[in-house]
Amino acid sequence: MSEQPVKAPAIEPLPAGLANLADFEAPARARVDEQAWAYLNGGAADELTLCANRTAWDQLRLHPRVLRDLSGGHTRVQLLGRELQHPILLAPIAYQRLFHADGELAMAHAAAAQSAGLVLSAQASVTMEEVAAPMLADPQAGPLWFQLYWRDDRDFMQALLQRVERAGYQALVLTVDAPVHGARDRERRAGFKLPDHIRAVNLGGRKKPLDLQPGQSALFDGLMPRAATWAEIDWLREHSRLPLLLKGVSHVDDAKLAMQRGVAGLVVSNHGGRALDTLPATAELLPPLRAALGPGALLLVDGGIRRGTDVLKAMALGANAVLLGRPYVHALAAAGALGVAHALRLLRDELEIAMALTGCKTLDEAAPQLLWPT
Ligand code: FNR
Ligand code: LAC
Repeated sequence: MSEQPVKAPAIEPLPAGLANLADFEAPARARVDEQAWAYLNGGAADELTLCANRTAWDQLRLHPRVLRDLSGGHTRVQLLGRELQHPILLAPIAYQRLFHADGELAMAHAAAAQSAGLVLSAQASVTMEEVAAPMLADPQAGPLWFQLYWRDDRDFMQALLQRVERAGYQALVLTVDAPVHGARDRERRAGFKLPDHIRAVNLGGRKKPLDLQPGQSALFDGLMPRAATWAEIDWLREHSRLPLLLKGVSHVDDAKLAMQRGVAGLVVSNHGGRALDTLPATAELLPPLRAALGPGALLLVDGGIRRGTDVLKAMALGANAVLLGRPYVHALAAAGALGVAHALRLLRDELEIAMALTGCKTLDEAAPQLLWPT
């Protein structure tokens, strides 16, 4: 258990008229400056993948069964040996103090209040111990995981892994689809720059400066020699007792390599369309990965999940759980911790309604038969 005192987030009134996750966008827009808004909502290049994530869930249609006995139904799922109240986790999103003074602290209180899991970004703007405290204080809280970016400094990584473990995090999520920032036009056009007072507070120390010769490429000669490869996956597995998941694997062959190396699971993700544009939607990436890895593999999915029906569709396609991204940050900007908790509650309610209306008593029963054949 964490000995960190639990800091209380500000309690603000909820804006009126919030019926679904999209309704948080307008009040959030009114409180976030243009640059940070572009950083939050933008994607890479033409934003085709960003758009595709949404349309792919919309294009899947549900195929309900009726007159079944659903009494005793529930949204509980098993994840890494634990039973969760429902399959919704908050995705790692960097620098949340850009959007609300409480930042990731609000995310943690909301996740704990709604029994949701939380994946803290490596680039969080609140300390990992402060975020862990409300989650660890609540026995009903969902899983508490830490997202990592590889840094080519093994002493630094080892100290970070030890701190994450000590702080009570239960799994590591290494993000592998963004060894370099995507070409984010919207963000660049808006001139987004991280303000001086917001920092990745858990990543002390300085990155080594790039040591380039004239004529060398900053990317291929500077960044890429420092990026993770499969050897670093082995190193991470050897240097932490926590289960390791990879976020951003989309090719079946990479998924198999990951499993051979003892990775505990994958987050099927295209980084919310922020890394490589023109990748398929995650609703398209998931089924071949499930088919290749079999029913026992742990697969989470994110990207464009906005509705309870999206959660149910993801489960029907073979996900064990889902991660919610931008909408909870809209809720954070709109109303702090209470906003995020309310957004989670709305999504949970929608999921329960979708299950009842499709004749799905438990999420174990969610299978491709729940979808209209395409
Ligand atoms: C992200 N994402 C992300 N992923 C990650 O592994 N580490 C990170 O620090 C961040 N930071 C981040 C910042 C912002 C502003 C956004 C919008 C996204 C990606 C995130 O975890 C997730 O994959 C997507 O956001 C999911 O898609 P939706 O739900 O936003 O469509
Ligand atoms: C992003 C990085 C932080 O998507 O992952 O902005």
